[in-house]
Amino acid sequence: MTFKQILDSHNFDKEKLVRMLKCNNSEYQQLLEKAHKIQCKYIGPNVYGRALIELSNICKKDCFYCGIRSSNYQLKRYLLNPEDAKSAIDLAIESDISSIAIQSGEQTSKSFIDYISELLIYAKSQDPNIGITLSCGEQTKEVYQKWFEYGAERYLLRIESSDEQLYYQIHPNNATHDFKKRLQSLQYIKEVGYQTGTGIMIGLPNQSVEQLANDILFMRDLDIDMCGMGPFIPCSGTPFENSISPFNDVFNMSLRMIAVVRIVMKDINIVASTAIETMKKNGRKKAILAGANIIMPNVSPDSFRSYYALYNNKPNVKISSPKHIIDSCLKDIPVGFTFFVGEKGNSKHFKSKNN
Ligand code: 5AD
Repeated sequence: MTFKQILDSHNFDKEKLVRMLKCNNSEYQQLLEKAHKIQCKYIGPNVYGRALIELSNICKKDCFYCGIRSSNYQLKRYLLNPEDAKSAIDLAIESDISSIAIQSGEQTSKSFIDYISELLIYAKSQDPNIGITLSCGEQTKEVYQKWFEYGAERYLLRIESSDEQLYYQIHPNNATHDFKKRLQSLQYIKEVGYQTGTGIMIGLPNQSVEQLANDILFMRDLDIDMCGMGPFIPCSGTPFENSISPFNDVFNMSLRMIAVVRIVMKDINIVASTAIETMKKNGRKKAILAGANIIMPNVSPDSFRSYYALYNNKPNVKISSPKHIIDSCLKDIPVGFTFFVGEKGNSKHFKSKNN
């Protein structure tokens, strides 16, 4: 099969995905062009924003790669108080971005669960049309159900790696980090009726291109509506702070992953992650050109930003006004794309599945 025939395929197996991910420089240009064409055809050259609120860095998990892991005792912990959280919601609503994403370290206490409910009720009372994504880790099906009823309609839970062996190389092997439980949580999220998102990190220690290809098949078979993935960036104070990358260019491999995911899953939402921007200037713009269509400007209060330290050099763009949020998005939008405000930008894939 020629490379072009692979790009034009209707069915993708592992071998084809590996071939695409390992393509040479001239094939890489074809890969990007194909992803861009598919993006324009299925969802249009459109980008939507999700105003990101980093609610808390308190986390019960101890993932080896992550700066907010529970045994990082150097880190000052916080939970935004209701006043700060609500003013971040207000700021997002005023900006007209029309979607917010509430992200937090994993907590399962009743007070945390009720706090999320309170914020959902508040956000919906201020703007009944606001789209809300939650990214608050593994919860019981009842909790997912409750948050859905309070108005959250999208949930992002990254599998981090769909390869069970690699999963346990990057997480402690214990009940708090159970691979099967994570899979089960994703099933619950789907069953409850959320637009379901997952994703992985690219460039984890000892990760192979074959595993990345399997990650794509995993996401396709789960029939996800949204994908959030990005490069792994070593973080000081974690067991992986000095880890060596398995790929010589993790940034470029991340762009390849976005392009291949777009080619395989034509109408899902794909995030141009903060991590990819951290790795290289204009990373987000390049991610959009490779097939991504979602950006997530951070609207968390300035004073807590530096504590949500997932990885080194995470950017800290200060937000002072609704206009500032929009401007910070516009600088990442490539020529030929439109940044939409006043419209939620639900996953087209989710809509067409449910029609
Ligand atoms: N590099 C890149 N991404 C990371 N995440 C956590 N730690 C890192 C890191 N060192 C990602 C994980 C997690 C999300 C909140 O951030 O994928 O799901």
